[in-house]
Amino acid sequence: MNKIKACIFDLDGVIVDTAVYHYKAWKRLANELGFDFTEEDNEKLKGVSRVASLNLILQWGGLTKTDAEKEELATRKNNWYVEMINKMTPDEVLPGAKEFVESCKRAGIKTALGSASKNSGTILEKVGIAHLFDVVIDGNKVSKPKPDPEVFLKGAEELGVAPEKCVVFEDAIAGVEAAINGRMKVVGIGSREVLGKANLVISGLDKMSIEKLDDL
Ligand code: BG6
Ligand code: MG
Repeated sequence: MNKIKACIFDLDGVIVDTAVYHYKAWKRLANELGFDFTEEDNEKLKGVSRVASLNLILQWGGLTKTDAEKEELATRKNNWYVEMINKMTPDEVLPGAKEFVESCKRAGIKTALGSASKNSGTILEKVGIAHLFDVVIDGNKVSKPKPDPEVFLKGAEELGVAPEKCVVFEDAIAGVEAAINGRMKVVGIGSREVLGKANLVISGLDKMSIEKLDDL
């Protein structure tokens, strides 16, 4: 028995599926710049920060930009993205996510959000689950991107729980590695081929239960 005391959740791909909105906004930007990229390429952007995503996309398009130009491009993309997430509704919470976070709270397990997204607060409010997290660590509070464990370690610290007593839920390989680097347990959300380093891999939080935390 591990006596897990806290669960730390990634947002995009674990609690909500915002990848599609990121994709639409980045694609629009790429198209305005005169090139395109596929949904398969988009997979490589999961869990990757805004600036790092832009750098990859510019690389795919064979473009070089100054820092000032990059800032303008990232802002342009973010404005379209924010327009879309402002229309999100509670039915966009992924199956089982709200129920599992609620069951953590009932079991006395602390909850935190650990996301690279600077838009985490808006998304949580729009889908009506902000109140379920004791602590929110988002892209505004960290300086080192996953697989650096900073985001999860800050979550554990603010919750007052030792990293060894925390479980991270992640859909991105960089996030799984970040949890491992932070000496935490990790449940991968997705496929075993991609997230094989996790202690357990499930298809979604609808397949998770408090009982399973003891076996990690
Ligand atoms: C992560 C997403 O959660 O947040 C990435 O998986 C995204 O695709 C990153 O780039 C940063 O998001 P934002 O909202 O700060 O641009
Ligand atoms: Mg994610």
